[in-house]
Amino acid sequence: MTLVGFVLMSYVFFFFFFLSVGRCQLQTGFYASSCPNAESIVKSEVSKATQQDSRLPASLIRLHFHDCFVQGCDASVLLDDTSSFTGEKTAGPNNNSLRGFEVIDTIKASLESSCKGVVSCADILAIAARDSSVITGGPSWDVRLGRRDSTTASLSGANSQIPSPAFTVNQLISAFTAKGLSAEDMFTLSGAHTIGQAKCSSFSGRLFNNSGSGQPDPSIRPGFLKSLQSACPQGGDATALQPLDVATATTFDNQYYSNLLLGRGLLNSDQVLSTTVGTARNFVKAYSSDQSKFFSNFAGSMINMGNISPLTTPNGIIRSNCRVPS
Ligand code: HEM
Ligand SMILES: *[C@@H]1O[C@H](CO)[C@@H](O)[C@H](O)[C@H]1NC(C)=O
Ligand SMILES: *[C@@H]1O[C@H](CO)[C@@H](O)[C@H](O)[C@H]1NC(C)=O
Repeated sequence: MTLVGFVLMSYVFFFFFFLSVGRCQLQTGFYASSCPNAESIVKSEVSKATQQDSRLPASLIRLHFHDCFVQGCDASVLLDDTSSFTGEKTAGPNNNSLRGFEVIDTIKASLESSCKGVVSCADILAIAARDSSVITGGPSWDVRLGRRDSTTASLSGANSQIPSPAFTVNQLISAFTAKGLSAEDMFTLSGAHTIGQAKCSSFSGRLFNNSGSGQPDPSIRPGFLKSLQSACPQGGDATALQPLDVATATTFDNQYYSNLLLGRGLLNSDQVLSTTVGTARNFVKAYSSDQSKFFSNFAGSMINMGNISPLTTPNGIIRSNCRVPS
């Protein structure tokens, strides 16, 4: 080989080498030598906390989602307000709604005492989301790790980039494609609503005067409508809670999709997946009759969501307190 040929080949090699490093920033087993018990510590804290509060797994999965959709999966959602910025906690979709922050604090404290300054808050959210799926009966997956934490948050991002429950299917798809996720990821990740609860204010617009029509949303099955109207009467307590999955509220299964086919979706953004003619409806049908297909796709889509714009070395920091940007 000529010298020129060799030099050229080396360039090509290094080009593809760095390209691949750039693409696969996160990896499984990232803490294998730096904090070998990291994942088992998270798991045992999630399990302890769930014994006190059966809603917690749902809240933790949602925290990871609301983190990843704003500035990427960088734990920005966990930051309290500082003198230089207002955090994301009081954004419309989050205020008086996101929960689980104290449990993340407990997990972080436990990790700091075992492996000081090693495990990021963003990775804690990703691991806790996986453990929350498993503990409620859902799928498991190997969590890609190596995210680092932001030093800033974005209140305006949280207000504009987290999808609204009033959205149409096309608006929901746009919110996901804006984050590099697919329509299929959206159909699949919506299945997280197989667990957890929503406040009356998140769906009461459907119950009496849907989009100013003077009528309830006709896609709500009559018996279900009655029970929602009595749980969330006009002028009643807007913070009262209803299960997102009326059939199996605390079990991670495919019942969410069967509910949709029966007009028993709680949020508008849930129900439109089966009432709007198109691909979404085909996924709802497929998942309602094939739980293992839903589970394996859910695992894959959670990995995709966890890959949204992570901060990796040399960017970001490892916070010592998940609420504070230092
Ligand atoms: C597709 C667009 C989505 C919309 C419009 C949406 C909207 C909502 C709303 C309005 C609530 C109830 C909040 C409240 O009333 O306090 C909620 C709860 C929840 N969401 Fe979503 N969500 C979406 C996607 C997702 C995704 C992708 C995940 C996770 C992968 C997720 C997981 C959850 C969970 C688990 C809860 C219950 C939380 C708890 O009980 O604390 N959602 N969502
Ligand atoms: C958040 O909720 C509290 C009530 O708990 C309210 O006082 C505050 O105004 C809300 N913040 C925003 C920005 O809506
Ligand atoms: C329904 O809402 C529309 C617009 O928001 C309003 O004009 C109308 O009076 C309401 N109808 C009833 C029956 O409350």
